[in-house]
Formats: sequence, structure tokens, C-alpha cells
Amino acid sequence: MTTKYQAVSIAPPLHVLLVICLSLLLPLATTFYRRGGRFAALDILLDKAIGRKRDYFLDSKYYRIKDYYGFQCLDVGSGNGDYSKFLKEQGRDVSSVDVLDLSHTGTVTLFDGTNIPFGDNQFDTSLLMFVLHHSTDQKGLLKDVMRVTRDYIIVAEDLIVNPFDAMLGQIHLHSSPWAQGEHEDAFKTHSQWQTFFAELKLQVVDTVTISRWTYPVYPVVRNIYVLKVPST
Ligand SMILES: C[S@@+](CC[C@H](N)C(=O)[O-])C[C@H]1O[C@@H](n2cnc3c(N)ncnc32)[C@H](O)[C@@H]1O
Repeated sequence: MTTKYQAVSIAPPLHVLLVICLSLLLPLATTFYRRGGRFAALDILLDKAIGRKRDYFLDSKYYRIKDYYGFQCLDVGSGNGDYSKFLKEQGRDVSSVDVLDLSHTGTVTLFDGTNIPFGDNQFDTSLLMFVLHHSTDQKGLLKDVMRVTRDYIIVAEDLIVNPFDAMLGQIHLHSSPWAQGEHEDAFKTHSQWQTFFAELKLQVVDTVTISRWTYPVYPVVRNIYVLKVPST
């Protein structure tokens, strides 16, 4: 006796799959469009095509908080040196320090990542632009930046808003050429950064938020914090 088996597909029909995909993708696509991501993405594509290097965060890093920048600035973790160069072009006296020499624009002073090689209160304004999450001693570094700064410290950081951001952050940390190994709490939520600054008696006097769609290549929300150094 032979038994006949009939193949039964357990996969949902194609049109059901299509509806599921569309209902997931459409809200994402419209959010992306509404937040300006479409235009940013086109800009970025065009820049890549013609080899133009642009700082997509310049408006938030500089123009929107220009009044907090004093004459003597310290760029901590200055990277390729483009931002230090830009500040010099704005007429400021800028010193740059980093743990690696990645600069293609001029001089950078190397240091150990915690002890800034300058005297007390030497700068009006110090900058930590997307640097703290790379530090294995965030508090130690920030304390020493406070020591050398008279007025304001400007900190730019990628924020954790959802678990996906935390995952992106870990990928970013492990793929960066300046990765300093494992460290917990490298990336924080906005309220964790507020607590962190308060513990050091740094007052947040201004905050600029950069939408995750401004740079869709690495879509995270970024905050620029302007911190007032307490007078001693
Ligand atoms: C994402 S890049 C940012 C470069 C630059 N600030 C900018 O916004 O274009 C991070 C920089 O932080 C530097 N860095 C890493 N750990 C550091 C530390 N503990 N102290 C100072 N700089 C550090 C790296 O060498 C790198 O130049």
C-alpha cells in the first residue's frame, strides 16, 4: 500500500508578505522624508560623488552657539584637525590635543588621554567633539579639561534613544581606528549625560539637538552640550 503525501506550504502568501513589508517600510520612509533625511541623503551622495568634504554638524557645533566660544580654544581629540582649522579661520587662537596624530592640517600635541599638557585656566573654551565616548576615563578626562578651562566646555555626543542606538554605538566603538578597548557606559542617554555633568558640578547652559536624519549614514541623535565651568 502506498501513502500519498501532499506538500503543504506554511509560508504566508506573497501578497501578505508584501503588505507586511509595506506597512513596516512606509512609516519609516515618511519619517525619514519629513525630518529632512531625503535631502541630507542626496547632499551626502552628491558630496561623495564630487569628493567634497563637508561638516554636516557645523551649524549646531558652531553657528548656533557661537557666543560661547571665547578667543583661546582647546580642541580635545581634534582628529583630522578640520574643526581646529575652521576655528582658526574664525580668528580664534586654537590648540589641539589628541591621543593619536591624525591631523592633516597642522600641529597637534599628543597626550595620554587624561592629563592635558597645559596649565590651569589657560583656555576660555574647550571642546570635546564626539570624543568622550572613546575615552576609557571619561570623568578623569573631563575633570582635567575643567582644570585648563576658564568659561565653557562644549561637548558633542551621540545619544542612546533606543536599543538600536546602543547597538550602533558598540559597532562604532569596535570599528573606530582609535578604539581604546571595552568600556561600559561609553554612550549614554540624555538624562545619563545630565547626571554625569551634574556630578562634576558642570552646569548645562545650552543644548542643541541634531536630528538622526541629518547624517543618515550613521543615524543617531546627537546633542551638543554647553557646560559652564564652576568658578573656583
Ligand atoms: C570621532 S573622532 C572626533 C574628531 C573630531 N573631534 C571631530 O569632531 O571631527 C574621535 C577623536 O577622539 C580621539 N580620542 C580617543 N580617545 C581620546 C582620549 N582619551 N582623549 C582625547 N582624544 C581621544 C581620537 O584619537 C579621535 O581623534
